[in-house]
Amino acid sequence: MIERELPLVTWHGGKVSHTERQTLLRQSPMTIWLTGLSASGKSTLAFALERELMNRARACYVLDGDNVRHGLNRDLGFLAADRAENIRRIAEVARLMNDAGLIVIAAFISPYRSDRAVARNIIGAEYVREVYVNTPLAVCEARDPKGLYRKARASKIADFTGVSSPYEPPEQPDLTIDTAQYSVEDTVARLLAVMHMERNLMCREPMPLN
Ligand code: ADX
Repeated sequence: MIERELPLVTWHGGKVSHTERQTLLRQSPMTIWLTGLSASGKSTLAFALERELMNRARACYVLDGDNVRHGLNRDLGFLAADRAENIRRIAEVARLMNDAGLIVIAAFISPYRSDRAVARNIIGAEYVREVYVNTPLAVCEARDPKGLYRKARASKIADFTGVSSPYEPPEQPDLTIDTAQYSVEDTVARLLAVMHMERNLMCREPMPLN
């Protein structure tokens, strides 16, 4: 992990190298960052990708907006400053998990370009694959699995993304997905291609060392 300079705290390096961890887990860690509106399909895709990676014996973990907001980020709301802190903390967790050798799948609305840029910076651009889950607002609103759009339209929830709070689409995502047009299976295949893992589609064993 890259050392960061702070005035009053000293970085303690361990005796285990990043390469050693990668060798142990037989994989290159990375963070697949899914961004998009609520009900766009981020969590469904994240958990489907996690299942597929596990089938191939890859060590991976999903960080999901609703779940992380139950614990680590339970003190945060949805004003811009809170969302920024939400994304910053998640990026720090993803960084640690990547350093531990894990593949991270992060599924957060992460509506602000500036917050996603901060996350990319924290995690390290070379580890991040940005995926824009570009499901049209009308489709997300028709799905409305938690009834939140209905509440937002009735002004019962403030600052709801896509309704009363902005969503800034990525300018150069590594992949754009419209879940209204592609099946989950097709999309997972495209995600694996972005991860350069498409070639061992049928591989259920860890890749051999060396
Ligand atoms: S983010 O904007 O800070 O990235 P995050 O992904 O963690 O959001 O959480 C989004 C989830 O919180 C939504 O899927 C939805 O269930 C819930 N939620 C509650 N209030 C809001 C709101 N005002 N805007 C968006 N999502 C909300």
